[in-house]
Amino acid sequence: MTQGEAYKVIAATRPQGDYRGAVVGCGRMGSTIDDEHIHMAHYPWPWAHAPAMIESRGIELVGAADIDRSKLDDFGQRWGVEALHENYRELVARERPDVVAVTTRPEERPEVVAGLAEAGVKAIYATKPMCRTLAQADAMIEACRAHGTILSIACHLNWYSWYTNALKAIEAGAIGPLRSMVCHCPHSLSNIGSHSLALFRLFARAPAEWVVGEMDNDEQALEDGDLSGSGYIAYANGVRGFLNSRADRSGHGWTMEFIGEQGVVVTRNAHAQFELWGAHPETGEPIQRQFPNPWYPRSSMVDAIEGVCRSIEEGEEKICPGEFGRESLEIVIALRESHRRGNVRVNLPLENRGLRMGRG
Ligand SMILES: NC(=O)c1ccc[n+]([C@@H]2O[C@H](COP(=O)([O-])OP(=O)(O)OC[C@H]3O[C@@H](n4cnc5c(N)ncnc54)[C@H](O)[C@@H]3O)[C@@H](O)[C@H]2O)c1
Repeated sequence: MTQGEAYKVIAATRPQGDYRGAVVGCGRMGSTIDDEHIHMAHYPWPWAHAPAMIESRGIELVGAADIDRSKLDDFGQRWGVEALHENYRELVARERPDVVAVTTRPEERPEVVAGLAEAGVKAIYATKPMCRTLAQADAMIEACRAHGTILSIACHLNWYSWYTNALKAIEAGAIGPLRSMVCHCPHSLSNIGSHSLALFRLFARAPAEWVVGEMDNDEQALEDGDLSGSGYIAYANGVRGFLNSRADRSGHGWTMEFIGEQGVVVTRNAHAQFELWGAHPETGEPIQRQFPNPWYPRSSMVDAIEGVCRSIEEGEEKICPGEFGRESLEIVIALRESHRRGNVRVNLPLENRGLRMGRG
């Protein structure tokens, strides 16, 4: 490295432009969730969208909207923001934000996303799960496409530097060709499971083609609520995913394995520990190598918001576009369909776009 090289690496990750940012939905995810997680020392904060936007380079938090005035007042006091609106359309008309974080609940998200796209915002950074039905996901993607709006789904682990380094190491050949991905996620399939499936999609580098699933509870599988279960996911390029979820948070912590022909990347304890295992060059025995720890580790939410700004400049969202959010929802609905039909193979895309997972 020549002198000044390190600074250049940091500068190169900064968005080129200066953007105006806003938050719609000033509850836990939009504003307050870090208060609940101050003892999660392994996970770099900020986690909520507002403080992450404040800390991100190339963007300024200029306003917020919530239908609940008390949430707006609390938001204004916490983050020193004065442009507070009870209607998100008024927020856009008055404050002209380029990037809007949508941290409402999934029930409101389709209408808010479509309205923001129609109002001409450049990028929407919408939290997970994307929505409840496949038809809603289709409409959100179409509204953003029609208005030239970048749609990013805030499965922020896709931007977390530990995962991006794991992906770079895999693509540089550290474990040989990727064969399969295994995830135990101690949460329900659609809500927090959507993070695991967005990571699967990013690492697989191909869309999911078909699935086989088994739900933990026959009665729940007949209903529309979010639930837990297990599944096998076949990606179009031959990579395979194995997903095991537990809505009651039991079982070991969130663990993922990315298994290649000559090694494996393992992430344990909800992204606290990352391991890289390769093969001994002479004996072929498994040997642990130094995981390529990030050189500039930061909050994944900060990296994601800066990434969304760079997506505006590139004209495309590649790390977690709306299509990844829709695929996460489609996979879990298809796993439940598989269970309903007697654990048979279910091909994607699903024909019935009215199928839903999750209730308000
Ligand atoms: N990525 C993560 O790590 C993570 C963590 C927690 C929650 N979440 C997601 O964040 C979303 C919100 O969850 P929460 O716990 O913050 O809920 P919340 O109820 O605390 O916040 C939602 C807010 O949206 C507001 N709202 C509803 N409709 C609106 C509208 N039309 N315009 C403006 N504001 C509106 C509500 O008044 C409320 O203040 C959920 O989808 C949840 O899954 C993500």
